[in-house]
Amino acid sequence: MPIGIDALEIAIPDLYLDMTDLAVARGVDPAKFHIGLGQDQMAVSPASTDVVTLAARAAAAVVERADEADIAALGLVVLGSESAVDASKAMAVMVHGLLGLPEGVRAYDIREACYAGTAGLLTAVDYVAAHPGRTALVIASDLARYGLGTAGEPTQGAGAVAMLVRQDPRLLIIDPASTARTEDVYDFWRPEGESVPRVDGHLSNRCYTAMFARVFAAHREASGLDVEDYAALCFHLPYTKMGRKALAGVLTPEEAEARGLDHLHRRYDESLIYSRRVGNCYTASLFLGLLSLLDHSDLRPGDRLGLFSYGSGAVGELVTATVVEGFDSRRDPAATMTALDARRRLSVKEYEAVLTESLEPVGADISSTLLPDGGPYALIGMVDGVRRYRMP
Ligand code: ACO
Repeated sequence: MPIGIDALEIAIPDLYLDMTDLAVARGVDPAKFHIGLGQDQMAVSPASTDVVTLAARAAAAVVERADEADIAALGLVVLGSESAVDASKAMAVMVHGLLGLPEGVRAYDIREACYAGTAGLLTAVDYVAAHPGRTALVIASDLARYGLGTAGEPTQGAGAVAMLVRQDPRLLIIDPASTARTEDVYDFWRPEGESVPRVDGHLSNRCYTAMFARVFAAHREASGLDVEDYAALCFHLPYTKMGRKALAGVLTPEEAEARGLDHLHRRYDESLIYSRRVGNCYTASLFLGLLSLLDHSDLRPGDRLGLFSYGSGAVGELVTATVVEGFDSRRDPAATMTALDARRRLSVKEYEAVLTESLEPVGADISSTLLPDGGPYALIGMVDGVRRYRMP
C-alpha cells in the first residue's frame, strides 16, 4: 500500500535580514553571500517565536489542511529538531498540548542534527505501515544560529515544516527502500546547555559532499537508480550553494547538457526559491527545498524525486519520493510567497538586538519582545521552568 506525505506546510518568522545589509555591516563583498553562499535574505526569529512556536504554527497549518478523519486517526506526533528547549521533555508533547491533538497519540522528539526531520518522516512511514488506518504528524523545526560576527553568521535562518503521513497520500509516496550511512565525526555539535553549536564549517562542507557521493553511489548499487531516473534531486540546504556542489559531484552542468539531463540543474534552482530567502533551518531545510520544488517546478504525476538528507555528526540518507496525481491542488504557492513578501526587513542593528536577546535564557516575561509578529502561537515567558504560550 502506498504511504507518504498527504500535506506539507511551512512556518517562518515575520522578520528577516537582507544579506546585502549584513555584508556591508561586516565589511564583506555582498557577492560572497549572494553568489558565494547563494543566500539573499535570512529569517530572524525573536525570542517570542521560539522553536516550539514555529513547530506549532507549521503543525496548525497541516491540521487546517488535513481531512478531519485523518486528524482523528493520528497515532504519532514526531518532531525532529536540534534546537531543544528542554533536556527531557519533548517539544512534540508541547505541540500536542498547544494544538489540542487527540489523546490517543504517541508524541516524542528525534535528535540527530539536520537529519532528524528525515528520521521523523521515515519513522512515520514505518508507523503507518505497521498500523493500517492510523496517520502520523511529522514536524521539523529549528533556529539556525551561530552568533554575531561568526563565520556561520550568513548561514543562519529559522523555520519549521509539518507533514501529515498517511496511506494513499495525495502529495508524495515515500519509497521505504532508502539508503543511509552513519559516521562518527565532529564537524558540528552542540554540547548540552550551550545556545549555539560548535562547528568546523569547512570540515562540515567536506563531510556533506563526501557523504552525498558515498550515499548516492551506495543507493545506485542497491536500487539500480541513477541520475537519469530522477526528475529532480532535492538537498538539505545549509546555504543554497551547498547542494549545488553535491549535485555537481555526480553530474556537472556540462555532463547534464551532454546527456540531456539539464532539467536536474534547472529544477535544483527551482528548489532554492524559499531557502534563498529563509536561510538554513536545519531539520526543516530539506523540506523547504522540496516545497519550493513542488510549488515552482513543472513536475508531473509519476515523477521520481531524490531527497538527500545530511545531519552533521553524521548521518546521510537518500530517500525516493514519487509525485502523486493531483499533487498541485494540495499546495498554495502564492500563500508562501505572500508570507515571505509580508515579512518586516530589520536593520542590522535591530537584527543584532533580536539575535542577542533570543540567545539569552528565556526570562519570566518576554511579552515586550513580541514585535510585529502576529502569528497565532507565541512564547510569552517562563514561570518556574514552565514555558507559557499565547494561543489563538
Ligand atoms: N564573490 C563571489 N563568491 C565569493 C566571494 C565573492 N566576493 N568571496 C568568497 N566567495 C565564495 C568562495 O569562493 C566560496 O565558494 P566555494 O565554496 O564554491 O569555493 C564561498 O563564497 C564561501 O566562501 P568561504 O571563504 O569558504 O566562506 P567562509 O570561510 O566564510 O565560510 C562556511 C563559509 C564554512 C559555509 C561558514 O559560513 C560556516 O561555517 N557555516 C556554518 C556551517 C555550515 O553551514 N556547514 C554546511 C554543512 S553542515 C550543516 O548543514 C550545518
